[in-house]
Amino acid sequence: MNANKGVEVVTVAGTRPEIIKLANIIPLLRKHFEHAFVYTGQHYSSNMKDIFFDDLGIVPDYDFKCNTSDINTLKDSMVPTLQRISPKYVIVYGDTNSSMAAALAAEQINSMIIHIEAGVRDFDYAVPEEPLRIKIDEMSQYLFAPSQFCTTVLTYENINGSVFFTGNLIVDVCRRLSKLSKNLHPRKDIPEEYLLLTIHRPENADNPHNLKQLCKHLQSVKYKIVFPVHPRTKQNLIKYNIQLPSNIVPIEAVGYVDFLNLLESCRLVLTDSGGVQEEAIVLRKPCITLRHTSARWETILLKANILFPPDRQDSLQDIVETMLAAKINRNPYGEDVANKTVDILKQVIV
Ligand code: UD1
Ligand code: UDP
Repeated sequence: MNANKGVEVVTVAGTRPEIIKLANIIPLLRKHFEHAFVYTGQHYSSNMKDIFFDDLGIVPDYDFKCNTSDINTLKDSMVPTLQRISPKYVIVYGDTNSSMAAALAAEQINSMIIHIEAGVRDFDYAVPEEPLRIKIDEMSQYLFAPSQFCTTVLTYENINGSVFFTGNLIVDVCRRLSKLSKNLHPRKDIPEEYLLLTIHRPENADNPHNLKQLCKHLQSVKYKIVFPVHPRTKQNLIKYNIQLPSNIVPIEAVGYVDFLNLLESCRLVLTDSGGVQEEAIVLRKPCITLRHTSARWETILLKANILFPPDRQDSLQDIVETMLAAKINRNPYGEDVANKTVDILKQVIV
């Protein structure tokens, strides 16, 4: 950021996946625009935040250290700075409380909103992110869709802004860092053959019945399962006194290069994470989504991903074997996405 020049574009992030997905585009935004990168501090633990800034080599210009996911607190923390630097455009990524707070702050200071990851839908309003992403899409002047599926979704909705298909920024970041991840020495606590697991969504992590059901299903799987545990899930496993089955190998949540190493080396991934569903198809790993819905329909249509909610009665082991045979040969999220996105931004930002 050049302190002597007016800032024309601000990009806001607040959580682990936003830091990751913005990692390749932030340097390009700094190169082509008068740009400031704002971090709200919704995610604050060192293994949810600092480790990612370090691994990915980006530093925020402003870190508001909010340590909360309360939307009003997040918004209020950034408004005075945004008012002072008065950007013409605010880039909002995704659908978290930090994304919503950024859109509200941008509206309050009369900046135009550019929404990256527009048109993503679970088609279920009970999912906390769904009303947020719909609202942000309605508020935005420019909507950048990560897949053709999301672009199509937006044509059916009450959207006032201009829609562009850009692809998904995760692709470039994943390709760049997966090269580094191949050089890592294998960890001694990781079995040679394993499946990878992540769980963090409230519908699973905050619901003891669903967490127990998932444990029951996972116990029936005839493979070791490596489980980097999100802090939300860690707290609830303790709170509800839930014992993980013996085939699960829990580890602390890891940095991005370590996670990609685990993903590249696993046979299949079981997850409720949006980002992990995307990375799985990019790296050609079969995915089982431990939910009743998904916001990554393109991966399901391409048969690289299948839903398995906790209340399913049939065998997870059978689904694992079916998915291990999946032929994954298409990436729906594009390539060289950061450059393409910046090319579109150059047309938009005049
Ligand atoms: C948030 C997003 C979700 C996104 C996810 C990515 C919202 C409402 N949810 O969910 O869309 O998929 O991030 O991971 O914005 N905690 C820590 N350290 C941290 C962060 C969280 O200990 O650095 C614990 C805290 O107890 C916190 C809880 O996890 O209360 C939940 O964190 P929060 O940011 O509210 O939601 P996530 O589940 O992380
Ligand atoms: N991830 C990571 N370390 C971990 C677990 C996940 O680096 O221990 C990465 C993963 O590669 C993906 C992102 O975190 O890019 C997904 O974040 P999360 O599942 O928290 O959120 P979501 O994508 O569901 O919003």
